[in-house]
Amino acid sequence: MATDTAAELTREEYDLFRDLIYQHAGINLGDQKLQLVRARLGARLRAGGFSSYREYYNFVKGDRSGQELTQLIDAISTNTTHLFREAKHFDFLAETARAWATDRRNPRRPIRIWSAGCSSGEEPYTIVMTMDDLARRTKGLQFKLLATDISTRVLAKAQRGLFEPDKLAKVPPAFRKRYFVSVRQDGRDMFEIRPEIRGQIRFARLNLMDERFPFRNKIDIIFCRNVMIYFDRPTQERLVAKFAQVLAPGGYLLIGHSESLNNIKHSLAYVMPTVYQKK
Ligand SMILES: C[S@@+](CC[C@H](N)C(=O)[O-])C[C@H]1O[C@@H](n2cnc3c(N)ncnc32)[C@H](O)[C@@H]1O
Repeated sequence: MATDTAAELTREEYDLFRDLIYQHAGINLGDQKLQLVRARLGARLRAGGFSSYREYYNFVKGDRSGQELTQLIDAISTNTTHLFREAKHFDFLAETARAWATDRRNPRRPIRIWSAGCSSGEEPYTIVMTMDDLARRTKGLQFKLLATDISTRVLAKAQRGLFEPDKLAKVPPAFRKRYFVSVRQDGRDMFEIRPEIRGQIRFARLNLMDERFPFRNKIDIIFCRNVMIYFDRPTQERLVAKFAQVLAPGGYLLIGHSESLNNIKHSLAYVMPTVYQKK
């Protein structure tokens, strides 16, 4: 019998996966996601020919390479995103970057930006378009952009920079024209981000649960939007403390519009909803 329909995920097995996912990625699934985990891991069972979730779990735990754990996290993580999502943040980015770049006494050069939990790239591509557009009007503006995620699957997609036409719905027409080329891919019309724009982003795998972030330089703006919603409060608190450590004085942390740092202890100053600053 095919594993997809045959294998049942027991509550005990669910708890094992839930703990493993929480320990490794900080993602807090709660009690209610048994069917979601069953569905999302079903494909991994089929791919590896495992006959039960327990057998698959034992394999993941015994896999010293960590590769199957990476696949498991890829299958579990939610990666919803789009270009120009929560567009006000990009207005804020442009205003802030312009002020920093034109500060006569102490210009920030380059401005360092980090998209933490970048998913399939829509957020860093929106950042790079915003910054490139600003650079055309702002003398001396320089920036560096790092985009990271725990999921290798979405990072591969991000690096490809290929979008279905409906994904461009919120992109201003002038940007669409300047930054994308239309291509035919597998019989479908698609839009590809121009290579010189893509080349301005450094993509890397990074687990936000890592004890320390491996940066030599301080970061001026961190976008960590719609990522912390999957973490519990202690995990959020530890993460924001690590963000505060790597932020340059005066630098900002931007979070998603449905998120807030109200319920956690942190050292950042509130600027406006979803925007926090290191003083
Ligand atoms: C919903 S997407 C958000 C994408 C984008 N920031 C946005 O707002 O459109 C959440 C992303 O967080 C990533 N993520 C979840 N846990 C993570 C962790 N521990 N370390 C790094 N990335 C993580 C997921 O893989 C996913 O791509």
